[in-house]
Amino acid sequence: MTKRIVALAGDGIGPEIMASGLDILAAAQELTKEIFEVVEHPFGGAAIDLTGKPLPETTLAACEEADAILLGAIGGPKWEKGPETPERGLLDLRKSLNLFANIRPVSVSEALRHLSPLKPEIIEGTDLVIVRELTSGIYFGEPRELGLEEAFDTNRYRKPEIVRIVKKAFEIAQSRDKRVTSVDKANVLATSKLWRATAEEVAKDYPDCTLEHQYVDSAAMKLIQAPASFDVIVTENLFGDILSDEASVLPGSLGVLPSASHSSGGPSLYEPIHGSAPDIAGKGIANPISMILSVALMLRQSFQENAAAQAIETACDTVLKKGIMTGDLGGTASTADFTQAVLSEMKGAN
Ligand code: NAD
Ligand code: IPM
Ligand code: MN
Repeated sequence: MTKRIVALAGDGIGPEIMASGLDILAAAQELTKEIFEVVEHPFGGAAIDLTGKPLPETTLAACEEADAILLGAIGGPKWEKGPETPERGLLDLRKSLNLFANIRPVSVSEALRHLSPLKPEIIEGTDLVIVRELTSGIYFGEPRELGLEEAFDTNRYRKPEIVRIVKKAFEIAQSRDKRVTSVDKANVLATSKLWRATAEEVAKDYPDCTLEHQYVDSAAMKLIQAPASFDVIVTENLFGDILSDEASVLPGSLGVLPSASHSSGGPSLYEPIHGSAPDIAGKGIANPISMILSVALMLRQSFQENAAAQAIETACDTVLKKGIMTGDLGGTASTADFTQAVLSEMKGAN
């Protein structure tokens, strides 16, 4: 059967790593039952330049009808001042598709362990998933206002929004080490007090799993001090954003972490956790692993193509073990060199 993939390359290094991701998807096609038809649409700053809007109606309509969406990255200094911003387009896309569950897995492969700034004995055994609430909290709460002398945002959570994301975390934990850490700031914030009480309630339906609570400040410290102590972390939108960039220090670069965003029933979206990296855009040196692994996540989570997903992940790891890597990890390979090496590895393994 044919599956429709919408590709949103976006800005900065977005198009560079999307090209890698799509090459890998084409190669993976040999291993899959499905046929993947990819259609590209303008999004982010590129779409502002073309149409005046970061999320044109035609792009949103294509996403709504897709079987899955791949996104590179958006944003950059050119569009920072608005009035339309690429970031607004991304938030609107997430909200429109109800992509409330953002899954950010963090593990450190053997090939990367010695590249982490942390000691090997601290990194050893790190394998965690951050489950980030993505369509509510302070990113979306109203009222919000930006004045010259005063500005404010509203952090708001409704109980059903907390219930569904915490359930998601427990479901993921059930297929892993069955330990959920809920991260909040319940010593201060009302939203966090509701979050914590709700997490306790939801936990009763998952007696095979454990639930512990951590305050976000202390969790930020433990993530670096004892990363292997975590299994599944569930947290609100803003805390999840910050903790996941922090977690990228564990494998040694922001350029290696993929993510999946799910709704209840609609198409899922797969994207790196990082941004458009304007400082290295256009140089052909971006690390494409975050995008390549996002393709693997898509194959596994949207299409149950586990063998193809595994083949991509294994090929990536083998290439890293050979010492082929981009500059962010201390190597000299270009984006294209690394991608070619993964493609050769996939062909060789077939
Ligand atoms: P960033 O994630 O783009 O970059 C942070 C640092 O990490 C930079 O030094 C960059 O070179 C490096 N980096 C990121 N990805 C890399 C890769 N694949 N390979 C090698 N190095 C990589 O964050 P920023 O600089 O704070 O933000 C730049 C723009 O991206 C902003 O406009 C921001 O709003 C946007 N942004 C978009 C997304 C997204 O599209 N989902 C996510 C985060 C930030
Ligand atoms: C991310 C990004 C976005 C976020 C920005 C660009 C809106 O940082 O995907 O992590 O904060 O969610
Ligand atoms: Mn972020």
